[in-house]
Amino acid sequence: MSHLPPTSDDRLIWDIWESMFRLPAMTAADEAGIFRALGDAALTTDELARDLSLDPHPLSILLGALASSGLIEKREGKWRALPPARTWLHPDAEGYWGGFLHGFRERTPQHGQLMEALRTGKRPERFNSGAPEWERGAMSAEAAQRIAAFMHAHSMATARGAAAQAVFGEVRHLMDVGCGSGVYGIEIARAHPRLQVTLLDLEAMAAEAGSYAARSGLAERVGTAAVNMFEADWPSGPDAHFFSNVFHDWSDETNRLLARKSFAALPSGGRIFLNEILMDDDGAGPWHAAAFSLLMLVGTLGKQYSLPEFRAILESAGFTQVEAVRTGGGYYSLVSAVKP
Ligand SMILES: C[S@@+](CC[C@H](N)C(=O)[O-])C[C@H]1O[C@@H](n2cnc3c(N)ncnc32)[C@H](O)[C@@H]1O
Repeated sequence: MSHLPPTSDDRLIWDIWESMFRLPAMTAADEAGIFRALGDAALTTDELARDLSLDPHPLSILLGALASSGLIEKREGKWRALPPARTWLHPDAEGYWGGFLHGFRERTPQHGQLMEALRTGKRPERFNSGAPEWERGAMSAEAAQRIAAFMHAHSMATARGAAAQAVFGEVRHLMDVGCGSGVYGIEIARAHPRLQVTLLDLEAMAAEAGSYAARSGLAERVGTAAVNMFEADWPSGPDAHFFSNVFHDWSDETNRLLARKSFAALPSGGRIFLNEILMDDDGAGPWHAAAFSLLMLVGTLGKQYSLPEFRAILESAGFTQVEAVRTGGGYYSLVSAVKP
């Protein structure tokens, strides 16, 4: 046999696929005038957005990608171009690379998507993601199959990292909310033999997750619930809710609603878990989070959040004891909080 079983670390694969944003982040910043502005002055995100007529939300995500690429830095809340950007990317510099880089604007679709997002503040019209299916609150069996396969591949290593966390040994019944293929609930159930799991998603996706659970041989302990998490009441019974890659699909405001729904459905002492790739507290990186956030920008209504941002969301619903640990599953962290 020449292939190997999955481990909890697939960061090499992430580094390679996320590299698709390295060049477009730089060419979009060049076209938007960011290197000139930050070469000439240190500016906050809002000042830069105002000066260049850009939307501050996509701009803040792009700035994190540029900082973690070594082109700009953030100090005391202001961004400033670093020497490589002042030497090679300032349009007035003798060494300006623009003559070469302009030719790549049309060659990478991400460049146009980033420019559209920066100028309109909205998700680009032409993009490729499963989000519009679930944003409608319903999807076909075919779409569920396709999205589940996509999510399953990208979540396998990190599900194993999450499943290794001892805290799940203290949980009786875990609900995996927005479960996709159910890979997290299934792997956590496999690692914790007394745990009961409910995989919750929209109807077609819950059915798809049910077939993944059946194939895992764990269907006795892993059930499904077809629930629209925004519109319906959530099943009572679980003492923990687990969300992976769900909050990053939505705005801060929508996440506050999800946190409130979770809080209402949990018993006192119940826990909420968010499995996500976290931005640094100052939003200036790291690259693997910033690049993922660019993907969220062009494909969903969300972004990658930092721990302080998640703390504010969770505490607004009443949760306490908000903390985060790196799980060892790829680049992911597990944020947890408790309902008092
Ligand atoms: C990015 S995927 C994450 C899947 C899985 N947790 C993972 O990390 O592999 C987001 C999931 O949220 C689900 N979802 C979106 N809107 C939903 C809703 N209104 N109710 C229930 N699930 C929803 C989608 O169907 C999808 O499976």
